[in-house]
Amino acid sequence: MRTTLTILLTCAVLGAGVFWFLTRPAGLPADFAAGLTPNVKAGALVFAAGGCASCHAAPKAEGDAKLVLAGGLAFPSDFGTFYAPNISPDSQHGIGSWSVNQFARAVTQGVSPEGAHYYPAFPYTAYLHMAAQDLIDLHAYMRQLPPSSTPSKPHDVGFPFNIRRGLGLWKALYVDEAYVISDALPEDATRGRYLVEGLAHCAECHTPRDRFGGLDRDRWLAGTPNPSGKGQIPNITPAKLDWSAADIAYYLSSGFTPDFDSAGGEMAEVVSNLAQLPDSDRAAIAAYLKAVPEVE
Ligand code: HEC
Ligand code: HEC
Repeated sequence: MRTTLTILLTCAVLGAGVFWFLTRPAGLPADFAAGLTPNVKAGALVFAAGGCASCHAAPKAEGDAKLVLAGGLAFPSDFGTFYAPNISPDSQHGIGSWSVNQFARAVTQGVSPEGAHYYPAFPYTAYLHMAAQDLIDLHAYMRQLPPSSTPSKPHDVGFPFNIRRGLGLWKALYVDEAYVISDALPEDATRGRYLVEGLAHCAECHTPRDRFGGLDRDRWLAGTPNPSGKGQIPNITPAKLDWSAADIAYYLSSGFTPDFDSAGGEMAEVVSNLAQLPDSDRAAIAAYLKAVPEVE
């Protein structure tokens, strides 16, 4: 009896220790941006490619109002409803008081300044590929956007998903620093990989998820039912997307398909962001999409 109890207690303590270890928040080297100088203009392009305003502007904001990152947009999921927080430079309700290191850690590691894990509704699993220069440019750009005093809305998520520490386990399973297409690629497709797998997080919508909400890397970009319940997000591997690279690049700037359809749903928003990038970036995305494995 005593021994059974001792064994159980030991297991509980060890289990808690393992849980604590597995769920510990990741760090970022303090000197990650040593020797680099931020460039606000370049930051505007990082901001567009990253689609930050698509999630963090107030719902239905248009035009210049899209640059007020007041938050409030709802993201329903199987685990509850998440709300995008205020990430404007307001020092009380936004992130105006954060250092560039705190900002970079949040965006690439999904960890708050207090050391709490963020939910992957914030696509840091893609942003972890971001280059240090892009991070400091983005931070400098966002600092000069208008502040908003709208308080962030608490998420509506039930037990056990409301325990952020547990997200450390999710991260241990799904955060992968390696690119999905890890083979050497031609130079333009390498830039395309950085954009598609990283900054522009295309897979967040175009790749199916498993039951814990992790991306299925074996069915990369193979399409999935739209989580909004309306229709299907298309397969954009060469198995289905048989457009020329030039057609793909044109679609990403204009929204027009080769048969004169126009991009709808969430993709319209993505196109309006990508349209701000230089032609070479859209050509790079097209080159990458031509290089990914076909998945039926
Ligand atoms: C698909 C929607 C989406 C996109 C795109 C997105 N975010 Fe977020 N972001 C979220 C959600 C949802 C949260 C809340 C996460 C949580 O509370 O765990 C969040 C949280 C944050 C936070 C933490 C704020 C706080 O108060 O703790 C920062 C900083 C942030 N995002 C910056 C960015 C930047 C910079 C970009 C663009 C590079 C971006 N986000 C793109 C959805 C998004
Ligand atoms: C927020 C979700 C979302 C993100 C992020 C996203 N897409 Fe899409 N994409 C869609 C939806 C939804 C459609 C279907 C649009 C329609 O019905 O007109 C689509 C359509 C497309 C199409 C047209 C395919 C066809 O057969 O008509 C291409 C190409 C495409 N996306 C490429 C990309 C690339 C490249 C990225 C990243 C730079 C990306 N998408 C990011 C949701 C998204």
